Amino acid sequence: MRIFFTGGSGKAGKHAIAHLQAQGHTVVNVDLVPSGLDVSELLVDLTDAGQVIGAMSQYTDFHELETGTGVPRFDAVVHFAAVPRVMIGTDGECFRINTLSTYNVIEAAVKLGVPKVIFASSETTYGVCFAHGEIKPDYVPVDEDHPTIPHDSYAMSKVCNEVTARSFQARSGIDIYGLRINNVIEPHEYATNFPAFIADAATRRRNIFAYIDARDLGHMVDCCLKTNGLGYQVFNVSNDDLSVGITAQEVVDRFYQGVKVRGTLAENETMYANGKAKRMVGFAPQHSWRDVLG
Ligand SMILES: NC(=O)c1ccc[n+]([C@@H]2O[C@H](COP(=O)([O-])OP(=O)(O)OC[C@H]3O[C@@H](n4cnc5c(N)ncnc54)[C@H](O)[C@@H]3O)[C@@H](O)[C@H]2O)c1
Repeated sequence: MRIFFTGGSGKAGKHAIAHLQAQGHTVVNVDLVPSGLDVSELLVDLTDAGQVIGAMSQYTDFHELETGTGVPRFDAVVHFAAVPRVMIGTDGECFRINTLSTYNVIEAAVKLGVPKVIFASSETTYGVCFAHGEIKPDYVPVDEDHPTIPHDSYAMSKVCNEVTARSFQARSGIDIYGLRINNVIEPHEYATNFPAFIADAATRRRNIFAYIDARDLGHMVDCCLKTNGLGYQVFNVSNDDLSVGITAQEVVDRFYQGVKVRGTLAENETMYANGKAKRMVGFAPQHSWRDVLG
């Protein structure tokens, strides 16, 4: 597939692009800054609608000129570009950039006839991550039916993007899948970050004690590219196990007193349910911090 990938110069995007290229996809990275990857790329500000529609409808590399048959179409858009949290710039700019860029990207995809859009939503939509003080989930494991009423501008932008995506899907009928990505972990971060998580499980409360390996996130994007006909969907994306050194029952006992526990928890089962992604698109995460740190 020829894929218009936004935000590929960032933390998650770099790994996702590498994974998609390894699966044989042709990727064009669209970002404010170069990625340093061996990939075609366009430097674009996605908050500018004209730039977005231009980028999605023009030649992107010299080899595309050779056929003489015109600009090739994109088979899918993967939209990862964003301000990735609050407290980088101002709250309002985070909301403006994330909502406007997502509107522009999905609108351009629909108008140019791209049949699939996959976009990065977030765990933060559930309201726990950037809450003022402590907010507990209504129930665990948190699945896609859990209410999404956050307090902060980043998570608000992601909830807004989900509404934007759902509306574009309703009118166009194309496939649009939102990924409620948990905390992205690059391979080197198992050694640098996890010892602290293991030493103090409380450090992971705002991430609902979960994580997603960046390579498994790339695999999830590929699963979504390969699965057609689901219309509008959102999927939690997380690894199967907890990101802390205590068991699921100990997490409940220490942190989720009074929170309803749905079903029976396996010993190290994630509190961020990923069953929908497994059932509907064949998501099968391969990695765990336990493979690295024992
Ligand atoms: N990292 C995480 O733990 C995490 C968790 C949940 C969701 N997400 C989401 O996943 C996506 C990727 O996150 P990340 O950690 O790789 O973020 P990142 O900040 O490392 O990368 C984001 C990329 O988007 C680009 N970008 C920002 N504004 C742009 C604009 N106006 N036009 C073009 N490009 C622009 C940046 O230059 C950057 O390369 C984001 O949508 C983020 O909200 C990330």
